[in-house]
Amino acid sequence: MNCIKIIEKLEKQHSASKAELIFLLENISEQETEILRKKAQKTALERFGNKVFIRGLIEFTSVCKNDCYYCGLRRSNHNAVRYRLSKEQILDCCKTGHELGFRTFVLQGGEDGYFTDEIMCDIVRSIKSLYPDCAVTLSLGERSTESFKKLFKAGADRYLLRHETANDEHYRKLHPSEMSLENRKKCLFELKQIGYQTGAGFMVGSPYQTYETLAEDLLFIKELNPQMCGIGPFIPHKDTDFKNERSGSVQLTLVLLSVIRLMLPDILLPATTALGTADGTGREKGILHGANVVMPNLSPTEHRADYSLYDNKICTGDEAAECIKCLSGRMKSIGYKIVIDRGDYKPERKEM
Ligand code: SAM
Ligand code: SF4
Ligand code: FES
Repeated sequence: MNCIKIIEKLEKQHSASKAELIFLLENISEQETEILRKKAQKTALERFGNKVFIRGLIEFTSVCKNDCYYCGLRRSNHNAVRYRLSKEQILDCCKTGHELGFRTFVLQGGEDGYFTDEIMCDIVRSIKSLYPDCAVTLSLGERSTESFKKLFKAGADRYLLRHETANDEHYRKLHPSEMSLENRKKCLFELKQIGYQTGAGFMVGSPYQTYETLAEDLLFIKELNPQMCGIGPFIPHKDTDFKNERSGSVQLTLVLLSVIRLMLPDILLPATTALGTADGTGREKGILHGANVVMPNLSPTEHRADYSLYDNKICTGDEAAECIKCLSGRMKSIGYKIVIDRGDYKPERKEM
């Protein structure tokens, strides 16, 4: 096997075997990474030009009933500060966001029983009626089929639910026994089937991850064929059992972004906040490696620090307006520009 041949296969056939993916991740050199990066960037440029889509992230609840071992919001972290935004506060975030040019709002939170279907549907309906030109993305964790259907009917357009790892044994090392990969996957296939633009994804460098589990993640993504994929480095949180674990590698995250771009050329691929936290210019590097989305924070500044998934998260003290200005500048510095657009998934999109 040889890395260049595998990269060429990814570019032409948009696929590779598990053995090839493991070999590539294990052996890719700096020079080969640059070849991969250029191909991924070219693929993204052909689809999206130098445009970067923005999503306004509204972290609306830090309450969570789950206990994922890696996450600062896990229920057994008694140091976590818990808050919930009211509907009015959420709509305020949307108002600010709309004025700043956002046309997608991402409502993200812990799995918080307070936000029943009735309450969530009302929030979604209100956003859609006030801002009919905007897409609403939900990232609320696992819910029932009925719930996913109701939220879709209320107007939600997209749903983000990272699968976290496609390897069952690995999944069990990251989550308590009441959570299962089987249900996670079931939710993802259901979301797609209902009609959501669906996002899967995983952390890079989570404890117990191997090149083999990463290859399984890539093959799962290929199989699911989601419209979006969120990947970013694992970063430890001081109040979790994984506090002494090492952060995921930025370099490996960038390689994976490029591989995903070649495997699924049309996919919406964010350069995540975790990537920007692990590396001061991580988001710029992400775009240059084939990503095409950034997700600045629209949450009220007074709550930012309390949505603490991992340590040293960036932008916790900055207003939405500052972040968008900062990001515009960052994108400009690498020859890209942020656009006012819903940024929907469009297969076979070719830039005019
Ligand atoms: N509760 C919902 C869920 O789990 O799908 C949505 C919010 S959850 C905080 C969003 C994502 O944060 C998770 O899918 C996970 O990949 C990521 N995350 C959690 N802890 C992290 C950590 N320590 N480092 C990096 N990413 C983390
Ligand atoms: Fe809750 Fe999501 Fe954190 Fe898991 S990752 S503890 S579900 S907020
Ligand atoms: Fe938030 Fe730079 S993106 S301050």
